[in-house]
Amino acid sequence: MISTPYYVIEKHQLDKSIDSLKNALEKYWNNYIIGYSYKTNALPWIIKYFKEQGCFAEVVSDDEYLLAKHIGYSVSDLIYNGPIKTKVTMAEAIRSGGIVNLDSHREIDWLQDLKNNRKQYSVGLRVNFDIEKMCPGQSACGDEGGRFGFCYENGELGKAISRVRESGVEIAGLHLHTSSKTRGLDIYKAIARTACQIVTDFDLKLKYIDVGGGFFGGVSNKPQFDDYLREISELLKQCLDPMKTKLIVEPGMSVIGPNISYVTSVIDVKQTSYGVFVVTDGSRTQIDPLMSKSSYFHNIDYQSDDNTKVNKQVVCGYTCMEHDRLFELREKRALTAGDLITYHKVGAYTMCLTPLFIKYFPEVYVKDMDQLILAREHWTPEFYCQGTR
Ligand SMILES: Cc1ncc(COP(=O)(O)O)c(C=O)c1O
Repeated sequence: MISTPYYVIEKHQLDKSIDSLKNALEKYWNNYIIGYSYKTNALPWIIKYFKEQGCFAEVVSDDEYLLAKHIGYSVSDLIYNGPIKTKVTMAEAIRSGGIVNLDSHREIDWLQDLKNNRKQYSVGLRVNFDIEKMCPGQSACGDEGGRFGFCYENGELGKAISRVRESGVEIAGLHLHTSSKTRGLDIYKAIARTACQIVTDFDLKLKYIDVGGGFFGGVSNKPQFDDYLREISELLKQCLDPMKTKLIVEPGMSVIGPNISYVTSVIDVKQTSYGVFVVTDGSRTQIDPLMSKSSYFHNIDYQSDDNTKVNKQVVCGYTCMEHDRLFELREKRALTAGDLITYHKVGAYTMCLTPLFIKYFPEVYVKDMDQLILAREHWTPEFYCQGTR
């Protein structure tokens, strides 16, 4: 018997997610790269799984870059994004033919250090564009505006293009990842339209166009990969040829989010004058580390047949924080110690953001057919102390 709490990776569902993404890409733009977004969940089992699936590693720091190399990636199969690259890893990635999307002028300055034969090297540029204007109310930052990449509207992108051209390094790609509140199709249409405008304005001959991640996945009443790729490809084909330009996608949430569950047990039930508090061995910190969600997909597996109803039960986590309260039950069966509560679709931005607070990382299992295979041991004080003096 496995003791709770633990995460379960649903292998069969994971296979289905990545297959449906590949099918959509093959159908609409059969010259593509999938870069799995490490920041979304870089559990070693998961990043090895996506490597076996033929995905590139989409990394955004020297640590993630080194992690991808550590698990056996060649640098030519990495997509290196974000503002916190180091000069040394960036130069290595460019020299080794990795896909490097520059985010800032300091990174253009670093191109000078590539010294000789700069003509044989290429980079991409991260585009900052006014997504809020194109999709009012949908962008992640609203009127505050996004902060990554070179701004198209104010001329910064134009300056960056000139500077890279002057350095002798080829501009091989554009990167237009855009985080949004809606993950809607409009966002991807705006990305494709903007890409075409830029290609035309600057007469770019692109080897790749990177539309980033941010898709929905595993939710039936939301856009599917087929919908996203249909819309993106229809617009991109107006300015780019799929035979000449690769389409890069960087999924995270859409492929890993829906395919991980978190299993917890009720350990105690307590009455106060305000109601019934159900204490569990799970925590909100492990499925919602930013404490931003107002509800969780979950199911309850009652261990007894007692059908007594309770007016209000507040299901709580194990931490000492008062706000570690997961959900309320109204007029529902009484929970008792030993009942199991499983939270679903908790694979994205959870394990990688979980704090080492009060308890260490729980076990992770992979469910393959009917077998549960251990993918990560429960962290012990020995793990916690490793590398310390
Ligand atoms: C550059 C880039 N690519 C890909 C992703 C993955 O996004 P998601 O996990 O929403 O698919 C992100 C997330 O912020 C990102 O910043």
